[in-house]
Amino acid sequence: MATTARIGIGSPLSRVDGIAKVTGQARYAAEHKPKDMLYGFIVSGAIAKGRITGIDDRKARGVPGVVEIVTHENRPRTAWLDRSHQDQLGPPGSTFRPLYDDKILFSGQPVALVLADTFEAARHAATLVNVAYEAEAHNTDFDKAVAERYMPSKKRDNYIAPKKRGDPEKALAKAPLKVESQFHLAVEHHNPMEMHATTIEWMDDGSITVHDKTQGSQNTQAYLSSAFGISASKIRVLNPYIGGGFGSGLRPQYHVYLAMLAATMMERSVRVVMTRQQMFTHVHRPAAEQRVTLGAEMDGRLTAIVNEATTSTSRYEDNMENVVTWGLMNYACPNASGDYAVAAMDTATSGDMRAPGAATGMTLFEMAIDEMAEAARLDPLAFRLLNYSEDDAMNGTPFTSKALREAFAEGAEAFGWAERKAEPRQMREGRELVGWGVATGMWDALFSKTSAGAKLSANGDLEVSSAGSDIGTGTYTVMTQIATDTLGLSPERITARLGDSDLPTSPVEGGSWGAASTGAAVQMACQSIAAKLLKAAGKVDGKPLGSAGIDDVEFVDGHIVSKTNPAASVSFTDAMRAAGLNSIEAEETATGGISGMISQMRKSRNTHSAIFAEVKVDEELGVVRVTRIVCAVAAGRIINPKTARSQILGGVVMGIGMALHEETMMDTKLGRFMNHNLAEYHVPANADIDAIDVIFVDEPDPEVTPLGVKGLGEIGIVGTAGAVANAIWHATGKRVRSLPITIDKLQD
Ligand code: MOS
Repeated sequence: MATTARIGIGSPLSRVDGIAKVTGQARYAAEHKPKDMLYGFIVSGAIAKGRITGIDDRKARGVPGVVEIVTHENRPRTAWLDRSHQDQLGPPGSTFRPLYDDKILFSGQPVALVLADTFEAARHAATLVNVAYEAEAHNTDFDKAVAERYMPSKKRDNYIAPKKRGDPEKALAKAPLKVESQFHLAVEHHNPMEMHATTIEWMDDGSITVHDKTQGSQNTQAYLSSAFGISASKIRVLNPYIGGGFGSGLRPQYHVYLAMLAATMMERSVRVVMTRQQMFTHVHRPAAEQRVTLGAEMDGRLTAIVNEATTSTSRYEDNMENVVTWGLMNYACPNASGDYAVAAMDTATSGDMRAPGAATGMTLFEMAIDEMAEAARLDPLAFRLLNYSEDDAMNGTPFTSKALREAFAEGAEAFGWAERKAEPRQMREGRELVGWGVATGMWDALFSKTSAGAKLSANGDLEVSSAGSDIGTGTYTVMTQIATDTLGLSPERITARLGDSDLPTSPVEGGSWGAASTGAAVQMACQSIAAKLLKAAGKVDGKPLGSAGIDDVEFVDGHIVSKTNPAASVSFTDAMRAAGLNSIEAEETATGGISGMISQMRKSRNTHSAIFAEVKVDEELGVVRVTRIVCAVAAGRIINPKTARSQILGGVVMGIGMALHEETMMDTKLGRFMNHNLAEYHVPANADIDAIDVIFVDEPDPEVTPLGVKGLGEIGIVGTAGAVANAIWHATGKRVRSLPITIDKLQD
């Protein structure tokens, strides 16, 4: 029989959820409208620290349509213990509980929720809720907080302590070349297009359906169940579509808690949507300060690395990141140490934002590496190759694979790096200085235990499912391709389902582990279907496949075909009919390493990238344009080159934002983020983005994960801002060590 070309793993299948999204059929959390739904509008607190002394809601209650105003004074009871309010990803500390008591922990903290029949009534009434406070002294000045940096006694689960090697102090004292620089990264907010939102459907039978903007349906389900003391079996969380997450949806945010509080109080359906301004009152990438001291021989060989960093957290939780480990892992250098601590401020707790820790610590470290290359009078790419480490230099373990050398070579070739002038300020176009910079990116290649289900119907349609989510990364598409590949069914026959807490167990979608983990589980479930099909085929009259085992057959176009005799085949339909089956179902669990275990493993598992950037800087105005980026990525097996490229593009764009635009500014007097809107918080727009060339280098790696997949959601941002900053130095001769590099910093 004819064999159609496989369109499974490795093919650039267009997003299977694309049509639903562009036609508006995909419904997001705030687009559900159960009957008798109340609209909840959040009243945000005005001070950074202190307590509420009184709430006057009489005027607000007088607004037609207002049904109730929920505050800490009239809220329903919730679980008492701290641990009942924790979620899968919460750091050590005492999780914030909205409307719990009169204490104010951060500016913008919700202090009331107005419930009304219309959104407009709720919003208007929210402006009339009068809250009186007793303010206490606060600190939201990161520099001041850094002076009291500390190492939390209880570490976050995925924290990796930097390991010291050799004697860096002694090596530094002897080093003929030494650079010591201090870097700073501003607070950034995730700003996904879709604001955080929850619609709760209060069902007649007392069960609760929660449409939530979250990166983990089961994480939110478990959290609500324990915080509200309601059996998880009564709570179903749905998140089939997510308008961007970047980490802001890893932990349940206060919108979902408030919606649940209101729904249980009123026993009615409720919708709560954060405003864009309120999106600046919860999770954010921590501010960071990083001091890098490097020593080298005259020929540029690194002899010492001291990598120290501090990131911001809140007073009530210790959010920790792996900031200093990357620099210690990536370079061959006999003496190295790291030191990391956190600094607490009166803000909401910082949290994971795309490549947490690495986007900060690797990027800033790569700016220091550029300074040492300059000191050694070496081309920055040649410097990196001179100090290249084949192994994980911090842990002394081999990588399952590291094709960074190939990424440098292919990236440099595509970029035309050989034409670079060694000295800064040597390239010019009209009134613009031109600069070229390079940086290395690095991220974990993680795997998380994940289950998937598969169900083959008698008509040959297949459904594959898992409770995880597609945060825009392409998980639906990757699942479809893996199912296609394993069972030889065309993608049109396959439906991938995600975003439902009722589906097989999955962790949150994050850490770039989705494709590797969900993919492996889907493959196992489909292999299990394949085995059951073959068994069913044995019931077909005349046994066309004889005693063929699973390795003796292929699955092609809805048929089981003998490898040795392609004329011998049984259709799925015939096999199922012969066995009297209407459907075949399977559920399998893929297991693997988890992020916190990396350092204890025999081998290190990481993705790498080489980023080359061209900038043009208007010397008079200080305006920087990033005119070209080449990002060469070594990330194992690529399941879908189209969605993979999109992930890297998105990461690079966010990296350009980190380099030039993104910065949440603090008014330390009010203790409040000031630029809490997209007019004043700048993200790159189309006009800021020019040519981005994405290269995937060949990196076969059967060890790293079952499918050889390493994940791509985060690596694109790591190092990108460093390449841009290094290019700005090459253009202007000026080192700006504080990101973002805004016009004022270039002109002072
Ligand atoms: Mo990502 S910061 O793990 O969503």
